[in-house]
Amino acid sequence: MGNSAPATAAASRPEDRCDAKARGPSATMTHQYPALTPEQKKELQDIAHRIVAPGKGILAADESTGSMAKRLNPIGVENTEENRRRYRVIFFHETLYQNTDDGVNFAKLIKDRGIVVGIKVDKGVVPLAGTNGETTTQGLDGLSERCAQYKKDGADFAKWRCVLKISETTPSELAIFENANVLARYASICQQNGIVPIVEPEILPDGDHDLKRCQYVTEKVLAAVYKALSDHHVYLEGTLLKPNMVTAGHSCPTKYSSEEIAMATVTALRRTVPPAVPGVTFLSGGQSEEEASVNLNAINNCPLPKPWALTFSYGRALQASALNAWKGQLNNEKAATEEFVKRAEANGLAALGKYESSGSGTAAAQSLYVANHAY
Ligand code: 13P
Repeated sequence: MGNSAPATAAASRPEDRCDAKARGPSATMTHQYPALTPEQKKELQDIAHRIVAPGKGILAADESTGSMAKRLNPIGVENTEENRRRYRVIFFHETLYQNTDDGVNFAKLIKDRGIVVGIKVDKGVVPLAGTNGETTTQGLDGLSERCAQYKKDGADFAKWRCVLKISETTPSELAIFENANVLARYASICQQNGIVPIVEPEILPDGDHDLKRCQYVTEKVLAAVYKALSDHHVYLEGTLLKPNMVTAGHSCPTKYSSEEIAMATVTALRRTVPPAVPGVTFLSGGQSEEEASVNLNAINNCPLPKPWALTFSYGRALQASALNAWKGQLNNEKAATEEFVKRAEANGLAALGKYESSGSGTAAAQSLYVANHAY
């Protein structure tokens, strides 16, 4: 809008007049047309709050078919549709339409137990040409139609993962901007279809950078994400954020305590994530099961004010022990379930800041780091 634009005629309330005067003519340049009804907003907000209710979190078992090979091959199980069905519950596209051995639809079974069903809707990362190996995430084509169908078929939330890398030259402005924008487009499309979007801008742990560098990059990335969500009129109360914890790079020689990680993480979130966002559900990002629980616990005990629920949406850190116990064998199912429940309970306590670590000598303390991890 040019400099000669007229001051708003609607500036009749004292605070509006004062605002318009203070900010000049460009203060009138933004408009929001109704995008969601009050009922739609209420539904989204209710779903988001159910997901991050005290002590609750998310099992992210939404690996694509290719990524499932990384889960199943190490335990000697073939990556077939049948083995994927036998293994997991929530939810890649394939899973939403699979049934239990007794023929009960997975989504129905889960919902009947009071669990909220979510689905990964992105279609994976693709190169961003002209960058130093950076990516964006595809999957917007037909997304609205897919979301409408998923909602009918029982899903109430969705996940879309974008990936950023830390190096001397990355993340670039372009990668930060592009990924923030595509997350905002995805979030807006989900909300139009009654689906709560989990916004996931994952900064990979690859590299030898220190804690400070990860905090700085996390702040820049999250600030861009929330600017884009605002520009796209996304209803923040009906969203969740799924970020990395702020940790040093995997090959950083300095080791930091869980209290230092917690302070860096909560500081970065406080500087960038509006209090309107109901919850932050961290990814585990290659931390061991035990580390992921201990760090989440420290985050919840961080002495800074925290206006959001802080909980987990772990993939690797909720599945590793269960996978090792299962090994694809029917008669191991009970043991696998027990391992899973153990980790779920540990993280449920960590989300309340009440987890007491069982020490670092267990299998759960093994690193789950995979270089350049894909989902
Ligand atoms: P990890 O917890 O294994 O990092 O994965 C969570 C996830 O869903 C990433 O998209």
